[in-house]
Amino acid sequence: MIAAEAKPLSQEIVDEIIARHPDKTGDVLSVLEEIQDRHPLKYLPEATYDDVAQKMGVSRSQVLSVITFYSFFNLKPQGRHTVTVCRGTACHTRGSKPLLDGLKAKAGFHEDDEEGGSATSFTTPDFGLTIRTVACFGQCALAPVAAIDHEIYGHVSDIKLRKLVAAIDGGKGS
Ligand code: FES
Repeated sequence: MIAAEAKPLSQEIVDEIIARHPDKTGDVLSVLEEIQDRHPLKYLPEATYDDVAQKMGVSRSQVLSVITFYSFFNLKPQGRHTVTVCRGTACHTRGSKPLLDGLKAKAGFHEDDEEGGSATSFTTPDFGLTIRTVACFGQCALAPVAAIDHEIYGHVSDIKLRKLVAAIDGGKGS
């Protein structure tokens, strides 16, 4: 099931996106952004960015440097929903680490898992949920802060976070 879903975007869609960007070198960022956005799992498979490099006449390393420079690009499949927990100083002192640990444990990640150790992004095997961290949302007065997809929530407690996660995707997000 995982392999079936985590596949490159169809060739037709990739070609159609590239064809709409005549400035091959200058439009690499826009093309990659659109391709990721169109992928159901919001990421850039290796075969896809290799294809982009070849068709846009830039080197693979140039494409990779764009992808790794911008934090919004994903090299791994993402969940349908994303929970982002702030790990900045203000949020840390107000308990963001236990919030994150509780969330990871509920989603089935453990510190000794490959994904549960030092990684900063975790996605459930069914691609329902991605848990990630951020350095600061710029909302430190509301610490601890977390976001569900693009909605930011302040003064988040463990119970509040569990309720928010349970409510997304009709309760299927966790
Ligand atoms: S440290 Fe968390 S919002 Fe700034």
